[in-house]
Amino acid sequence: MSKVLILYGTRYGATKEISDEIEKVIKDNGITTESYDLKEVNSKNIPPLDQYDGILIGTGIKMGMWTKKVKSFVQKRKAELKKMQASLGFYVCCGEAKNDVSKAIEKYITPKLEKVGIQSTLINAFGGAYDLRDGSLVTGMTRKIVIGIMKEEEGIENPEGKLYDYRDWEKIRDFANQFVEGLKK
Ligand SMILES: Cc1cc2nc3c(=O)[nH]c(=O)nc-3n(C[C@H](O)[C@H](O)[C@H](O)COP(=O)(O)O)c2cc1C
Repeated sequence: MSKVLILYGTRYGATKEISDEIEKVIKDNGITTESYDLKEVNSKNIPPLDQYDGILIGTGIKMGMWTKKVKSFVQKRKAELKKMQASLGFYVCCGEAKNDVSKAIEKYITPKLEKVGIQSTLINAFGGAYDLRDGSLVTGMTRKIVIGIMKEEEGIENPEGKLYDYRDWEKIRDFANQFVEGLKK
């Protein structure tokens, strides 16, 4: 039976929900999964990657950057990841993907993986979410920035109090199914 490892980094929770949906699709295909928020585990405790038949790594983007934990994991385990690159999937969740997926991939995936010598066959960028509801994780200065983005880029006059969700769940499930198909090859 195949076993898949899913690792992700998230600041406001959008990439976690994407990763959970991807995991669900993989499980529904009868494949065993292990999924970790890289902020919640000591990456030293993540077993050797050759124990898995496939690996998926996902990260949210802030100011053009992956989360620190995703960046350091990829850097530290690049030799293992390179060996497994044929069964490695990589995805980002970001604002840019709402308008231009190819540009988001060009900005946030390809050059960053190339820098560490990794080529992934399956990469994708998914639209993100901006949560301006009361009690959301988007607080302080970040909240002000997001309100500015919603006003200027989306033309929304009073953006407070709502969730703006640009994630395309069908696309996310398609990506997970493509990954599963790749494992069968
Ligand atoms: C302060 C801030 C900065 C952001 N910077 C970028 C950016 O540089 N490029 C981009 O495409 N999206 C950017 N975004 C959009 C996020 O990638 C999007 O909200 C995503 O859903 C965040 O994922 P996470 O909740 O998993 O961290 C930014 C969002 C915030 C709140």
